[in-house]
Amino acid sequence: MRRAVGSVRAQPLTPREEAEVAGLLGERLAGLFWQQEPMDQRHGIDAARLVLARRPGSHQLARAALLHDIGKRHATLGVPGRIAATLLAIARVPVRGRMRVYLEHAERGARELEAAGADPITVAYARHQDGLRPDAIEPGAWALLKQADGEKHRVVHAAQYDGG
Ligand SMILES: [Fe+2]
Ligand SMILES: [Fe+2]
Repeated sequence: MRRAVGSVRAQPLTPREEAEVAGLLGERLAGLFWQQEPMDQRHGIDAARLVLARRPGSHQLARAALLHDIGKRHATLGVPGRIAATLLAIARVPVRGRMRVYLEHAERGARELEAAGADPITVAYARHQDGLRPDAIEPGAWALLKQADGEKHRVVHAAQYDGG
């Protein structure tokens, strides 16, 4: 919930951050990144910067952080809709339409990244971001990506996994 509130205040990327994204992603993956809403671009760049601060030069993990939530853009849900979808997931109320699309963002994003030629770690993190660590990501890298993704975000998403 706090992350959702934080999203309201999300600042668009600065020119310097835009250049960082361009330096990390090829044209096709950058295209997917820029299709995201500003709050999701902000979440991605913040996560990537934390990864690079902890593991300088780890461009592969930074890409995984940048791109892990691209599946959210299909839901075209604003913050109130995201909060509502999350609360319904916590309450285990089945949802349809855009809310369902939002709650399925991990798998949707992973499929798109795969089709766009993203590396296996990027695809695996997108797909398993709210679940268990896949073999494709070593434990240290997994812990770092989860930390960069954010504790609050993880708590918010946990409900949908409990609910299946
Ligand atoms: Fe997510
Ligand atoms: Fe995330």
